Amino acid sequence: MMRPGTGRDGREHTGGVSSLIVRPSGPLQGAIPIGGAKNSVLKLMAATVLAEGDYVLRNVPDIADVGWMGELLEHMGLTVERGDHEMAIHSPADVTPEAPYELVEKMRASIVVLGPLLARFGEARVALPGGDDFGSRPIDMHLKALEALGAEVGMEHGYVTARAAQLTGARILLEFPSVGATENALMAAVLAKGTTVIDNAAREPELADLATLLNRMGAQIRGAGSSTITVEGVESLHPVEHTVVADRIEAATYLAAVGIAGGEVTLQGAVPDHMTMLVQKVGEMGMRCSPDGGGLWALARPPLRSVDVSTLPYPGLATDYKPLLVAMLAVADGVGIVTENLFAGRFRYVDELVRMGADIRTESHHAVVRGVPRLSGAPVRAPDIRAGAALAIAGLAAEGETVVADADHIDRGYEDFVGKLTAVGADVERID
Ligand code: UD1
Repeated sequence: MMRPGTGRDGREHTGGVSSLIVRPSGPLQGAIPIGGAKNSVLKLMAATVLAEGDYVLRNVPDIADVGWMGELLEHMGLTVERGDHEMAIHSPADVTPEAPYELVEKMRASIVVLGPLLARFGEARVALPGGDDFGSRPIDMHLKALEALGAEVGMEHGYVTARAAQLTGARILLEFPSVGATENALMAAVLAKGTTVIDNAAREPELADLATLLNRMGAQIRGAGSSTITVEGVESLHPVEHTVVADRIEAATYLAAVGIAGGEVTLQGAVPDHMTMLVQKVGEMGMRCSPDGGGLWALARPPLRSVDVSTLPYPGLATDYKPLLVAMLAVADGVGIVTENLFAGRFRYVDELVRMGADIRTESHHAVVRGVPRLSGAPVRAPDIRAGAALAIAGLAAEGETVVADADHIDRGYEDFVGKLTAVGADVERID
């Protein structure tokens, strides 16, 4: 049985009661193991709805969101057993095709059960996710894609409902390469009758990981990782074992920590090919990175040079990297202009960085970051997963103590954040 929101240490990861204390540190030295990707494992777990039987997932990160997705699967009638970075899932012949509000509210990624539930059971009922700290995040493209496959989509009492006796392959042209919409369309199309072509599909490595799992399950998907994905529908799928792809965003976080504190660190298990644009960007800032036998080696001697940053869908610079890059620019030499092209509201942590002495001005979806020689430790609040991590690593270059409140946000996406940083010499401590 899962205990959602609770790490193996038994500590509650929700409720906003934990803080991190960060003191100036550096240079960092050593190795940090990179875990399985949050943005992949949640979708792989959802995919187990597609076929009855027993699955094993490996390289599963011990993070709170995995607990929430496990809770959602159990609500639907699946059985989830969690071991040491492994997960066994039993998918029964029949499930309750519903994602309730209490769980969707905790984790927006729950919306990805819509496609697989509809494909296998002909119906699904999923609570409409509310807004979050990024601002409004619509799901219109998810719904249009399912409608293109023949689903009847409706809305009642705050729930999205979808029905289809048999989905039929179709051409789906996404207005924007949305990760979630591509995943829902893909997981619906694998059991549809005939051929589906998804154009302007998302190309993220986590999406390619999902397609690899689905193909092992017997799906016929070509082109995943490119912007045109072709799916030949099959009648049924079967369960498999699968190892989750490495988390490029977790790797980027520790890369940024090295950029801020200085030092030389190897990110074990990171996949440099999934981080090419970021490696190029931090290279322009003066960091040195190179692939290192199954990982990524990084060296930095601050201060780094400022650069301009513009977020784009993969292979562009991920929006999830942005708070980390802004933290790096806050102590770099010069001025950097940061443009957010995905989520309008993703600048809320900037006010917190300003409280630490950063010189940042925002105007609509742009931020102008003027580097300062040193930040000054202050009490700040983590608004979400990545911004929380960014504030903590900014504290590595801040005089005095930085106290990051609501550190529980960080636990949603990072396993042993404090342990991994302290292992390379950072002065970070957790208080509950
Ligand atoms: C996923 C990631 C998130 C990452 C984001 C972009 C997970 C759990 N989350 O989120 O960490 O920041 O990709 O790389 O994998 N949009 C619409 N209508 C839709 C769907 C999306 O307008 O139906 C818009 C969104 O508001 C946003 C943009 O499209 O502006 C991209 O969103 P999307 O790629 O769908 O992000 P998620 O899948 O939600």
